[in-house]
Amino acid sequence: MSLLPDRAALTALAYQLGPSRYYQPAYRFIAADVGTERGSFLDVGTGTGWLAIHVASGRREVDAVGIDTSEAMLRYAEANKRDRLNVTFRKMDATNIIYPERTFESAAAVQSAHHWGDPAAIFAEVYRVLVEGGRFYVYEADPEAEVPADWIVRKAGLPTDAFVRGQWAKFGMDAGRWAQLRAVAEASPFGPDIEDERHGFYRRLVCTK
Ligand SMILES: C[S@@+](CC[C@H](N)C(=O)[O-])C[C@H]1O[C@@H](n2cnc3c(N)ncnc32)[C@H](O)[C@@H]1O
Repeated sequence: MSLLPDRAALTALAYQLGPSRYYQPAYRFIAADVGTERGSFLDVGTGTGWLAIHVASGRREVDAVGIDTSEAMLRYAEANKRDRLNVTFRKMDATNIIYPERTFESAAAVQSAHHWGDPAAIFAEVYRVLVEGGRFYVYEADPEAEVPADWIVRKAGLPTDAFVRGQWAKFGMDAGRWAQLRAVAEASPFGPDIEDERHGFYRRLVCTK
């Protein structure tokens, strides 16, 4: 048995110490963009939980659920939510969401889609668990975007633009991959009426049931 932390634990620790901190304004902007004022919200690939936390914060009538396949990420999400009662985290694969049909008023996935092995299954599952008229927002960083000053917390000049853009090149989606994802969304039960716009440094799809 190795005494070294495993790869998933190291990835989650790096995320908790890095992006979880410096993207705090971005999570707030996205929570405002999603605009959930009451009812259930699903954060797909919640990671360290911050979008679910911001969507639920100060909104007692919102019940936010974050799902992720990584136990290591979810341990940080549990710690980050502190004593908020209207945020729940569950280990779950978004290709097989263990909630009944029409459970959620809205859903979002931030910086998760570039990991998805079976995006068609995820669009179908999110469609199933949304109420009629519910929306699924998908955000991925655009490697060609400028780094907006007010969307990222910087301390002593860090992270630098070069570092952030390097991360987007690695963990965001270029125009080709984004077009593929959009085509999968259009072929899903959400149908062809998908909004494809920018939000800050993100490419954003809005899929309405
Ligand atoms: C880069 S992190 C982003 C986390 C968070 N959304 C954020 O913006 O801070 C991507 C997350 O998506 C999760 N993920 C990838 N595929 C998934 C799937 N099929 N079901 C659930 N979570 C998934 C990963 O485990 C990882 O925690």
